[in-house]
Amino acid sequence: MSRQTYYITTPIYYPSDDLHIGHAYCSIAADTMAKYKRMRNYDVYLLTGTDEHGQKIERVARERGLEPQEFVDGMVVKIKDLWELMHVDYDGFIRTTDPQHVTAVQEIFSKLYEKGDIYEGVYEGWYCTPCESFWTESQLVDGLCPDCHRPVEKTSEKSYFFRLSKYEERLKDLFREQKDFVEPASRANEMINNFLKAGLDDLAVSRSNFSWGIPLPFDPDSIAYVWVDALCNYITALGYPNEPEKFDHYWPADVHLVGKEIMRFHSLIWPALLMALELPLPKKVFGHGWLLFEGGKMSKSKGNVVDPVILVERYGLDAIRYFLLREFPFGSDGNYSTEALLKRSNSDLSNDLGNLLSRVVAMITQSFPEGFPSEKDFAELDAELTQMADGTAVKVEKHFEKMEFSLVLEAIWRLIGQSNKYIDLTTPWILAKEEASRPRLAAVLYTLADVLRRVSVWISPFMVYTPEKMREQLGISAAGAEIEEELSSWDSAAKAGLYQDDFRVQKGKPLFPRIDVEAELAAIEKLDLS
Ligand code: ME8
Ligand code: MG
Repeated sequence: MSRQTYYITTPIYYPSDDLHIGHAYCSIAADTMAKYKRMRNYDVYLLTGTDEHGQKIERVARERGLEPQEFVDGMVVKIKDLWELMHVDYDGFIRTTDPQHVTAVQEIFSKLYEKGDIYEGVYEGWYCTPCESFWTESQLVDGLCPDCHRPVEKTSEKSYFFRLSKYEERLKDLFREQKDFVEPASRANEMINNFLKAGLDDLAVSRSNFSWGIPLPFDPDSIAYVWVDALCNYITALGYPNEPEKFDHYWPADVHLVGKEIMRFHSLIWPALLMALELPLPKKVFGHGWLLFEGGKMSKSKGNVVDPVILVERYGLDAIRYFLLREFPFGSDGNYSTEALLKRSNSDLSNDLGNLLSRVVAMITQSFPEGFPSEKDFAELDAELTQMADGTAVKVEKHFEKMEFSLVLEAIWRLIGQSNKYIDLTTPWILAKEEASRPRLAAVLYTLADVLRRVSVWISPFMVYTPEKMREQLGISAAGAEIEEELSSWDSAAKAGLYQDDFRVQKGKPLFPRIDVEAELAAIEKLDLS
């Protein structure tokens, strides 16, 4: 029996500088989705990597007195360390300098050249090096790059062109027929209105006035345009064209996750290249929003970046992963602030979740240290909370499938909020005073423990350490590896009543220590977070 595959990709980032929390945002989202699908028993392949060629990288390396290869080798070590720290558990990491990728890109160029989809010409126009984008005079806005609003450079060089125009009609059909090819839908409209309507010109796909790139097989003085080189990573990483087994297994991608600024490359140029190669198209390109910082897009060249390593050291990985996916609806832009991170950590994690667990564990330890009695006096209130948890199971899956991470978390936290209210309504501390109300007390605390068990599973794709800590305190881990594994499974969370009477709860440390927001903000003010 073969499992269904799920192939998800992040952009391959430029290793021109240290990555910031904006890059981590995309990778954490992709990783969360991958973890969710793995829990649902998919055969998942999460691909990430680095985009190492091009003028920008060549310039930065030279500025630092290094050969480009030497420079990117050093940067890649740091990027891999970052993903290890943040538990971005990728299945493949592609570097565009990998010999296998280089050969594959050359074969792709040969194929397109032989079929007449690539032809020789001269490129005269503008080039934005930070974006690695070609622009015509009329596309510039006030003489600047229309994407990043930075200065462009005039270039006139021998260039090979890809017959993008030939695929215009098929692209229009694609956008017409497959309404969910690009998500969110607003981004599909942007592509149609800003590019497809005006018509597509052929695209320059080689450079010849510098050398840090993949030489073209039919003209070694020219190198592949870095965007074509980079886009091909999604298939070369799977072994295209020489290892069909892995490629056929995972391709087409289920989703390419990318920031909204590179939608054009992924939803127009990339499908056209695939059409020319006669390969199936990815099922979806999802353009997520930007993290803004002090009013602008966080970006390396602007210097307004936040270092994810420092955030993890100070506030813990789970709080950061939770915050990023809870605070900002995934398709929209959002203002990053450390203050908002700290406030959410205190309110949602220390108060709502952390207190719920510690209250429940403390009450069970006090009243039923040897486990629950078999007689329990369940009431309507308990059934209501359990039904709400059953409903949460449905909502969590529905929102996950649409990559609505903030709504997944909102649904879970509504259940957590209701559980805290349920404690206030059932007043277990009063029930604990009378021997006669022990069956009722057992029902209340059992209901809560069972909800917490389910919550620990649903948050597992988002949080790396917390689910385990919860299961330790709930006494699930101590019940043995087999039970623990069973009760960590995705399907177990859909079912009520799997918490067992003989589990022995164990008081533990608070899940998320409260942070003194003002003191912390004053302390980091003195640090250089960028
Ligand atoms: O574009 N907010 O690489 P890149 C949210 N090499 N996400 C952000 C962000 C922000 N402020 N800043 C960056 C490239 N990102 C190419 C990609 S793919 C074939 C080649 C994320 O290093 C976001 O996902 O500039 C964005 O698309 C990506 O990092 C760009 O990274
Ligand atoms: Mg960029």
